[in-house]
Amino acid sequence: MKTALFAALALTVATAPVIAQDRHLARNLAANCANCHGTNGVSQGGMPSLAGMDRTYFTAQMNAFKSGARSGPAATIMHQLAKGYNDEQIALMAAYFSAQKPAK
Ligand code: HEC
Repeated sequence: MKTALFAALALTVATAPVIAQDRHLARNLAANCANCHGTNGVSQGGMPSLAGMDRTYFTAQMNAFKSGARSGPAATIMHQLAKGYNDEQIALMAAYFSAQKPAK
């Protein structure tokens, strides 16, 4: 009896963070970009803002960084970064950033 209760509790504890992470997946992915592109993609200057960016444009840029079609002196970091995300993750981030309010 005690063992069953413990097992049930352990299962609850073990699965809870996974569910929470799933619900916030887009935001968590987007948080990886905040260092350079600002919180929620609102740049504080210097870097392009991602907040309010058109989904199609965002996706095209990420794929262009991945393939190397978009290049330039400042693009090398994005080449490395973009390769770390699959289509589904890019789509999640595109939806997330397009829904953020751009800076005035
Ligand atoms: C270490 C800094 C750094 C991080 C972290 C970073 N970026 Fe960038 N990003 C840049 C720079 C620099 C550019 C400009 C590249 C250029 O001008 O070619 C850029 C450009 C972009 C662009 C093109 C913007 C435009 O206006 O065309 C997109 C889209 C983008 N980043 C998405 C992301 C996403 C998504 C993440 C997180 C997964 C991310 N970046 C994380 C530095 C960064």
